[in-house]
Amino acid sequence: MSIYTNVDQFSSVDTPFYYYDIGLLQKTIKSAKEALGNGPYQIHYALKANSNPRILNEVLKFGLGADCVSGNEVNRAIEVGFDPKNILFAGVGKTDREINSGIKHDIFGFNVESLEELKVLEQLSKTSGKKTRFALRINPNVDAGTHEYITTGKRDNKFGITLEELSLAISLIKSLEYTEFTGIHFHIGSQIIDLSRFKELADRCNEVQSLLLDHSFELPHINVGGGLGIDYDQPDKNSIADFKGYFSCFKRNLVQLPNQTLHFELGRSLVGQCGTLIARVLYIKPAEKTSFMILDAGMTELIRPALYRSLHFIQNLSSQEGSEVYDVVGPVCETSDAFARGLSLPKAKRGDLLAICSAGAYGEAMASQYNLRDAAPCIFSDDFK
Ligand code: LLP
Repeated sequence: MSIYTNVDQFSSVDTPFYYYDIGLLQKTIKSAKEALGNGPYQIHYALKANSNPRILNEVLKFGLGADCVSGNEVNRAIEVGFDPKNILFAGVGKTDREINSGIKHDIFGFNVESLEELKVLEQLSKTSGKKTRFALRINPNVDAGTHEYITTGKRDNKFGITLEELSLAISLIKSLEYTEFTGIHFHIGSQIIDLSRFKELADRCNEVQSLLLDHSFELPHINVGGGLGIDYDQPDKNSIADFKGYFSCFKRNLVQLPNQTLHFELGRSLVGQCGTLIARVLYIKPAEKTSFMILDAGMTELIRPALYRSLHFIQNLSSQEGSEVYDVVGPVCETSDAFARGLSLPKAKRGDLLAICSAGAYGEAMASQYNLRDAAPCIFSDDFK
């Protein structure tokens, strides 16, 4: 990772901060595009993973669309230059104000998550005098095999309409005048490593599509969401996600009709590995079994370990000597504010710089200012040139 190229310069920068390797980001997006190949395909970048304007600018250069989950994300996408014709708006709880804003911008489409929402969309479209496009998000009841908090496609998850509701949805759709049914949408979860889960999704998608064809709905779009996982254990070795395996799974298993476009909403796999949280060791404090390594970054900068017990690879950039077992913790007044427990690392001292890897997705985007902490700034690899 080019982190080492810049590590000397890091010593003069106030910590904590997010470091983004722009070269790696570009390489990752390029690999994703190459793996997808040409054809009736479109990737929409999921802004929720990281909506930093500089990151978005890079994504934009590669011609990706945007997948947004709030009115503010739609606005951010438009501000940085995404064409509204490539913007999707998803989410179970869109407010009227957010829907109206999407209608005003004439976005590519709404991913509608309930029949009640569809009625609201029809009403608001009618009031605005504009016809809008929507995809129906269907909950396929597929287990993504990931952490339960980031599983979204099981029957008891709040997302989408159930397969049982489909016939009710079909009669409602037939009565609509101001909204156009253009696609079906799915998203089964995030950080999915087992690609067979995507095959299951493709199978379910084919079933839904054939049912809709029976009702003469020949839809121009299928959207299979995002969810491709990254390697948190060995980010250096596997810095690029398995885009080939992921895309070919859908190409092999999903029945794509002529003139139908297949859409993907990737977040983590595009931006996860390019971001690193850089922190400094404040104190080393002996504890009963291990030592506490207390950093100046914590759950306020990167909440994933506290929320999902996820492990991000940690490197001491200042020391490679010796070995000791640490609980690597943050300064926040919560016991869950820990990056790792019982982790062997080189012997550390006050002032050492630590890199918490694979923090480009759902890191900065989920940061908070709990305890009135300052927001961590971000630095890009090309700032150092
Ligand atoms: N599309 C929809 C409808 C989604 O809900 C999500 C993520 C994505 C696409 C992008 O998924 P990705 O390719 O990034 O897996 N904060 C959690 C992840 C939450 C994901 C929410 N939805 C984490 O840090 O692991």
